[in-house]
Amino acid sequence: MSKVLIIKSSAAGNGSVSNQLIDQFRNSYAAGHLDATFTEHDLGRHPLPALSALNLAGFAGTAAESADEVALAETSEKLVSELEAADLVVIGAPMYNFGVTALLKTWFDYVLRAGRTFRYTENGPVGLLKGKKAIVIESRGGLYSEGPAAVMDSQEPHIRTMLGFAGITDVTFVRAEKLAFGADARDAAILAAGNDLGQLAAAA
Ligand SMILES: Cc1cc2nc3c(=O)[nH]c(=O)nc-3n(C[C@H](O)[C@H](O)[C@H](O)COP(=O)(O)O)c2cc1C
Repeated sequence: MSKVLIIKSSAAGNGSVSNQLIDQFRNSYAAGHLDATFTEHDLGRHPLPALSALNLAGFAGTAAESADEVALAETSEKLVSELEAADLVVIGAPMYNFGVTALLKTWFDYVLRAGRTFRYTENGPVGLLKGKKAIVIESRGGLYSEGPAAVMDSQEPHIRTMLGFAGITDVTFVRAEKLAFGADARDAAILAAGNDLGQLAAAA
């Protein structure tokens, strides 16, 4: 049985390209994998509270006292457990200001935990999650996979690093780029990304 964890992280709601592409992938994958189970979070509609002085105690070994601290510790535990259980992680990642959305970064803040998803050794950090695949759908107004703006892409390397730090190294990136380059470019990008995802759903 295949357990699929889906993370949406757009603030655009119904207008989101990455959400649309994720829904398309989920439908295709479900049709070809009748025993698949899905756990899905739409962080745009249900944002996680950012780590702060209001909630951080209790997160890293100290006792949680306030309601916010207890909530953070419990939510982090739940999200880590979901990630541990998943065979396939599908992440919708809009580019905001050359990186990931704060919504997605906060999810990573909750799940990248020493002793749970990575640990430090005498030889450096080791990811503890093994045997998982990830598909990351990147939606971007501009073009970063090639050309002069490629050096400004702080999104894909960061996501690769964060997943890899937890041991998830089998990552496929699907990019919908040039979404702000006019209607034709936008339609073509969404169609191409959808086709790529259809092939991934069939092959996975
Ligand atoms: C706050 C904000 C910041 C953005 N920053 C960038 C950016 O740095 N580079 C870029 O190419 N597009 C940028 N965009 C455009 C989004 O990447 C684009 O709208 C994309 O479709 C977002 O994904 P979504 O449709 O799933 O929400 C930004 C959009 C917003 C709302």
